[in-house]
Amino acid sequence: MENIDWGTLPFGYFKTDYNVRCYYRNGKWGDIEISQSEYINIHIAATALHYGQEAFEGMKVFRGKDGKIRVFRWEENAKRMQKSCRGIMMAEPPLELFKEMMIKVIKLNEKHIPPPGHGAALYLRPLTIGSGPQVGVKPANEYLFMIFVGPVGPYFKEGFNPVDVQLIHDFDRTAPNGTGQYKVGGNYAASLQPAERAKKEGFATVLFLDSKENKYIDEAGPANFFGIKGNTYITPDSKTILRSITNKSLRQIAKDMGMKVELRPVLKEELKEFDEVGACGTAAVISPIKRIVDRDTGQEYKYCTDGKPGPISTKMYQTLKGIQEGEIEDKHGWNLIIE
Ligand code: PLP
Ligand code: COI
Repeated sequence: MENIDWGTLPFGYFKTDYNVRCYYRNGKWGDIEISQSEYINIHIAATALHYGQEAFEGMKVFRGKDGKIRVFRWEENAKRMQKSCRGIMMAEPPLELFKEMMIKVIKLNEKHIPPPGHGAALYLRPLTIGSGPQVGVKPANEYLFMIFVGPVGPYFKEGFNPVDVQLIHDFDRTAPNGTGQYKVGGNYAASLQPAERAKKEGFATVLFLDSKENKYIDEAGPANFFGIKGNTYITPDSKTILRSITNKSLRQIAKDMGMKVELRPVLKEELKEFDEVGACGTAAVISPIKRIVDRDTGQEYKYCTDGKPGPISTKMYQTLKGIQEGEIEDKHGWNLIIE
């Protein structure tokens, strides 16, 4: 294993030894290529560069105390990649190809899978791009599916400590009938201005409202939103948010904990009724939120008033991490063990 200070890893790019690639040409996927280069050679007129044909995923791999390597819910990510590709008219990597490339890239970079106990994981970044040239606005004839990996720490520097979030009205990450449910680069480009402004103004991230009526909570910059009210886990149902696999897992964990689960539109006025709120995602895991500030009205919503994450968020966090790291029984079959 590499001599890395695993406990202080940020969430960022980390050069590892290998990545894997596969081209879709003439209507079919080719052979898997293993590369040691961090670069790709791309046509100047590739549709990824001009018309935003790009979709990506984010997944985590954990090494348990038992030494086993576990990938969390890979099939969900692979299916979502297919959905994103369909959404912007790209060729869809088949599930079997996704799985084979994923296993290959994990094994090739095994020494970069963090040991347990440091709050770190190996992050997998699958991406598909339109690599074929077009000048008129149309889908490419050629696609490139790749996976690169790197060890990461927590997405927000606070880790599992509560963060401040800014509720905004003047930017939308996606249009009401747009691409919000797909994990495509364009949505993230649209989020950069408000996200960087929020950081400058002292917040970890932004909370977007629905882009049609500006009445409902949509999601955070890089994560879904949830609130706890009494014994109920509540999370927005919206056409414009990314269907988070972490959120889906937390809904199951909440049910397993005997809680009620509500997946429904969440009015921003409800923010004052929650006992606990948080952002959830592969990178963010659970980031408890201690303060939400409405940038337009200045209204503040406060949580975690004792400075600590709430008890339910804490239990859910520990359960999710426990399953991912092989410490808690994986009764829903979420992990794939890489032999
Ligand atoms: N929402 C957005 C916009 C994201 O980028 C992510 C990250 O993947 C999520 C939500 C969380 O999704 P998941 O839990 O599948 O990682
Ligand atoms: C993830 O949680 O994996 C993400 O993709 C979020 C962000 C880094 C875009």
